[in-house]
Amino acid sequence: MGTAALRHGYSCKVRNSPHVSASRIRDVTFGRDVRVIEPVNLYECTIADDCFIGPFVEITEGVSIGARTRIQSHSFICTLVTIGEDCFIGHGVMFINDLFEEGGPARGDRARWRPTVVADHVSIGSNATILPVHISAGCVIGAGAVVTRDLGVRGVYAGNPARLLRPLPDRQAPSA
Ligand SMILES: CC(C)(COP(=O)(O)OP(=O)(O)OC[C@H]1O[C@@H](n2cnc3c(N)ncnc32)[C@H](O)[C@@H]1OP(=O)(O)O)[C@@H](O)C(=O)NCCC(=O)NCCS
Repeated sequence: MGTAALRHGYSCKVRNSPHVSASRIRDVTFGRDVRVIEPVNLYECTIADDCFIGPFVEITEGVSIGARTRIQSHSFICTLVTIGEDCFIGHGVMFINDLFEEGGPARGDRARWRPTVVADHVSIGSNATILPVHISAGCVIGAGAVVTRDLGVRGVYAGNPARLLRPLPDRQAPSA
């Protein structure tokens, strides 16, 4: 067992040197005034104006994040997820695109991945898990919820599986 010096100056005892890739920001389309707290792993995604991306967030290819949305630390936003404007994605929120529909992971077979759409003004509590669903505008999702079905009614949802706690009034259009 030897001592290997890895790319960032760390050293560790290993039998075989692992292939180590640094987390990074690659091929991201940013809007104006986006704030990102490193370390993050962001690639081939679109992040619109005035968004906040906290530390330890991963956002993968094809994801779109609408303007003024906040993504708090430790969240994972996977391919085929679209998030609207003015959303709040809490800490450690996990999105899922692979339902293991055929008894296990799709192992990169994108035909078996499913999309998620989060409309505008949605707030998702910490540690929630979002399976491939459509979440209507203005919904609030409780901490630790597991969302397994479309949320078609604007309301507060919580639990595993997430259930409607109470409906919310429709948002008023801003007066002229
Ligand atoms: C879901 C949530 C929005 C509900 O708030 P609320 O409408 O004020 O609801 P209440 O506190 O009155 O609780 C209503 C019921 O739901 C339950 N409940 C509340 N939050 C829950 C949650 N996250 N998961 C499961 N049940 C929950 C309560 O225990 C209560 O049950 P009971 O009627 O049997 O006593 C809130 O509890 C929550 O989880 N917020 C997320 C906050 C967050 O993660 N912020 C991140 C930044 S720090």
